[in-house]
This record gives sequence, structure tokens and C-alpha cells, in this order.
Amino acid sequence: MSHVPSSASLTVRTAKHLGGELTVPGDKSLSHRSVLFSALADGVTRISGFLPGEDCVCTMRALQAMGCVIEVESKTNLTVHGTAGKLIAPLESLDCGNSGTAMRLMAGVLAGQPFASRLVGDASLSGRPMKRIVDPLRLMGAKIEGRGEKHTAPLEIFGGSLTGIDYTLPVASAQLKSCILLAGLFAKGTTSVTETTASRDHTERLLAHFHAPPVIEPLEEGTGRTIRVRGGTKLHARDFDVPGDFSSAAFWIAAAAAFPNSDLTIANLGLNTTRTGLLSVLMRMGAHIQEGIAETSCEPVGTVRIQGPTQGRKLHGTKISGAEIANVIDELPIIAVVAALAEGRTEIRDAQELAVKETNRITAVVNNLRAFGVTVTETTDQNGKQDGMIIEGGSKLHGAKVTSFGDHRIAMSGAILGLFCPGETVIEDTACIATSYPTFESDLRKVAHLQEGGFASLLSGR
Ligand code: S3P
Repeated sequence: MSHVPSSASLTVRTAKHLGGELTVPGDKSLSHRSVLFSALADGVTRISGFLPGEDCVCTMRALQAMGCVIEVESKTNLTVHGTAGKLIAPLESLDCGNSGTAMRLMAGVLAGQPFASRLVGDASLSGRPMKRIVDPLRLMGAKIEGRGEKHTAPLEIFGGSLTGIDYTLPVASAQLKSCILLAGLFAKGTTSVTETTASRDHTERLLAHFHAPPVIEPLEEGTGRTIRVRGGTKLHARDFDVPGDFSSAAFWIAAAAAFPNSDLTIANLGLNTTRTGLLSVLMRMGAHIQEGIAETSCEPVGTVRIQGPTQGRKLHGTKISGAEIANVIDELPIIAVVAALAEGRTEIRDAQELAVKETNRITAVVNNLRAFGVTVTETTDQNGKQDGMIIEGGSKLHGAKVTSFGDHRIAMSGAILGLFCPGETVIEDTACIATSYPTFESDLRKVAHLQEGGFASLLSGR
């Protein structure tokens, strides 16, 4: 299956500065998890701030297809009637669209259900690695087959009795961690997952929110932890308010940090420290950012204010590698954009996972940055695997025509870079933006104050 590009495109022109106040749509990771966990719980959960992006809608529809009653009160407000863990066999394949989170988390749940199911996805998802979940689920006793090449989707699962395992993650991946922990809820005995590098901890926090707290032990060295769940633990309904998605806000945070004389405030934002590495990276590069956490119930939520450099000053290059990578994994494309605008060299290493996202984001970022006039080199690790890039900041940039490669974060990163460039920038194949940030274009209009001429076109096909 190969990607069929959409006809939608986005054209942007040079901005004057970024400013104002904004809230961004609900967090994608938390929207998936809150609807999934409330479907497994007993009782009724009201979810507000749900992200109505295509990825999360896939998870919601799959749960409805397995007998969970979900009332869609409005785009962002759901009432979920929990099944107390008793989903029913779906009559058709469950479509996960473009979403790795939907497929990997749901596979964990389905491995422990007493029925057969099939998970399918679009061309991008069908090429993404699934052996990483197939292996541990099989160790737990699951019957699961990846019908694509190299154990990729479609995934066929003949759910049944599972036994807990102790598993050390071979890659830092919250999707993999969550898949095994969810399977562990339906397994005999205890399941433990050890991650040597901390990945986002939303599953652990939300399990606690739904009255099923896992046991968490930090490792003696590094940022890693062991997380344990007991088979048979029940989840109980509890309303949840999804905060704004830090990874969506990242585009504005990065743009305002680099754009002279900007002053932007983003409120009601998820500020979980396993997600906010971008703030430390930008501050290391010389950015002016203030972060205020207003409340922490299940997740820390607050406000971020970003002030751009004073006229004539620039951010400077940095190195991002090791344990920091997991914390900025979704923000690396926009970090690469900021690096291109900064002075000096920025090095991104140990980011092998970036090559297996919605597209190969190393190849996509390098290609697109070059089209704007940036000097950038791809890097490889000691096994010859792509692991990052070296970006020489300060090149003379110009508007460009680039493609999204069908990847939402590549599309949005390209649009942001266009704001800094003389001339017109066209991003092609932008329908993918709707997977995570359906209101990106209207928010762009809200915060980016453009020079003469403004935006030339809309997202819809042109
Ligand atoms: C996610 C985890 C990350 C991230 C993705 C969402 C999640 O993927 O890139 O956008 O919700 O658990 P990995 O866990 O595979 O790194």
C-alpha cells in the first residue's frame, strides 16, 4: 500500500511577529487513553476537551464497534458508558487510520479478550513496526499475527488467556509500554515493564485516575522505571478533562521563541514533564519562556508565555541526544526548524525512532529543510541506522514548495518555517493535519501576524 497524497495544500507568507493568547485542542495521547480506559471501566465517564482529530476518532469508533456506548455530546465532549472490561467481538476490521497509538494500545487490550479481531490502518500505519508489540504479547501467550511484511499490520488477534511477564523495553516507547500494561490488566498474575529511559507516563497516570494505580519504582540509575500492574485489576469511571496538547502548542512555542518581538501566551496546556523537553531545549538555545502550572490532578496543566528575541538577536544551536530524545520525540521536526533559524550548529542524535513515525521524519525533515535553503546533513549510528541530523543555522532562507509526506507534524513544521522566509511557501498534501490538529490553520491566522498579503489559500484542496 502506498500513500495517496491529498489535494489539500496550505500557502503561507512571511510573518511580522507572533502574538496573542491561545488555547490548543485536546491532547492526543490523553484523548486516546481517556476514551479507551473509560470504555474498559465500570460506570459512566464524562470526557471534556476530547481531541476530535481523526486519530482519536478511530479509537472512539473502534470502541463503539465493540459494544461501548459513547454519546458524542459535542465534538469535544463525550459520555462513555463503560463496559466493565466486557467488550464484544467486532463484526468488521477495526480501522486505526494513521494512528500508531490506536493500534498498539488497542492490540494490548484485544490480546486479552475472548474473541478474534483484526486491526487495520492506512498506508503509513501499515508500514510501521509492530513486531515490537507482537513479541511481548506472544510471550504473554497471545495469538497475534502481523499479516504485512515484517509482522506489520493488518494485525490479527485471537484473544484469550494471558500470563503476566517481566519485560524490559528494547526501545523507549510509551505506546509499547502501554500495550503491555493494558494486556497485563487481563493477564494472570503480575506484569512488569521496565523502561531504561522514561517515556511519557500518561498511561500510568490515567490508570491511577481510573482507580487502578500501577506500582512504579524508579531504576537506580538514569531516568528509567519499572511499572507493575496486577491482572484482574478493575478500572472505575471518573470524569476527565483533557488539557491542551503540548505537541500541538509546540509549533507556536517554537515559532514565538525564534521570531523577534513575539509575545504569545498559551493557556490550559498539558505540562507533563515527560512531554515538555522542548521548553528546556529552547531555553538552552536562549529562548525566553515562563511556565506556570495552575493545577495537577491527574496531569499538570498550566500556562506558557513565550517572548521572542529582541530585534537583531537570535537563538543559538544546541545538542539533543540520549535520554532527552524520548521527551521531545514528537517535537524534533519543529526543533529542526528552530535550529535552522538559530546561529551555529545543532546536532540531533540517538533519534532512531524518528525514522519510524508517520513517515521517516529524518528523511522528510532533511529534504524539506534543504528546499528552504538550509544546510543539513543526515547522521547514522554505529550500526549504520539513521539517528538524526546536523543543522547549520543561519543560512539565507527562501520560501519553498514542499510536501508533508502525508505526515501532520512535517506539514505543520513546514508552514511555521514559511513564516520566517521571504516569498511564498506552499505545503502540499496537508489533509493529514486533521489527524492531530484540525484547527491548525485558524490558529495560524490567530497568532501569526503576517506582512502584506497574508495567507494565500486555505487547507481545502487547491
Ligand atoms: C505516543 C507515544 C509516542 C509518540 C506518539 C504518541 C502515545 O510514540 O510519538 O505521537 O500516545 O503513547 P512512541 O511511544 O512509539 O515513541
